[in-house]
Amino acid sequence: MTSISRRGVSWSLPGSRIPSDQPLQLDVFTLVPHAFAWLTEQRPVAAVLGDELDLRLFSYRDSTPLRGGQVDDEPYGGGAGMVLRVDVVAAALDAAYGGDPGRKVVALTPKGRPLDQRVVEELAAEPRLALLSARYEGFDERVVTHLATDAVSIGPYVLSNGDLPAMVLVDAIARRLPGALAEGSGELESFSEELGGGLEYPHYTRPAEFRGWTVPEVLLSGDHGRIERWRREHVR
Ligand SMILES: C[S@@+](CC[C@H](N)C(=O)[O-])C[C@H]1O[C@@H](n2cnc3c(N)ncnc32)[C@H](O)[C@@H]1O
Repeated sequence: MTSISRRGVSWSLPGSRIPSDQPLQLDVFTLVPHAFAWLTEQRPVAAVLGDELDLRLFSYRDSTPLRGGQVDDEPYGGGAGMVLRVDVVAAALDAAYGGDPGRKVVALTPKGRPLDQRVVEELAAEPRLALLSARYEGFDERVVTHLATDAVSIGPYVLSNGDLPAMVLVDAIARRLPGALAEGSGELESFSEELGGGLEYPHYTRPAEFRGWTVPEVLLSGDHGRIERWRREHVR
């Protein structure tokens, strides 16, 4: 298991119970823990690692009960592709938690409930979370029905693996943690309660005119009341 903090990558003991004033413990089970390195160097994740987010990466191969690091097998009934085995995922969860995971375990699958900002807020409010990523043909269905407690899809399309969906969720959750964003910018965002779930008003910056394309005059006026009204009118 790899635990990532702002001080770099270190090893730490899994399975400890966490009081509520502790960082959100977000565990990702994957075949490619190293793929998450880039994400952890970028804001907002980099900004909250340690104080607000304890991100731990578990490789299915580290705990697989099968020889040679095997994690997948042919589908019963035949057909193309390989399936991530239920015993392999169970062994990874047992190695991490030694029994009851004591957290929501979210399988990333195209068949899951659609991800939206409401689901992000719900997951970001959890004290501990585990995300299960698959690849190949996906999970043995018993992972979803017996090991996971939730299933999330990031959209109605099929990606090659669950690592990009896991990164999408990690990023979206990290944005909701204290200190992730400049003050105020997290409240007035598309889909936020503050904007009634709507899409944010347009932004402009210098130059005020480019190729004849101008910035709305009100934004240059310095009149904060008018600017506020204009912005409210342009939430879609
Ligand atoms: C190639 S996909 C498997 C697709 C599966 N055979 C199907 O037709 O639904 C491999 C894995 O990528 C992940 N994945 C792919 N698309 C996803 C999506 N839209 N949302 C969440 N996870 C996804 C899941 O972990 C999935 O098990």
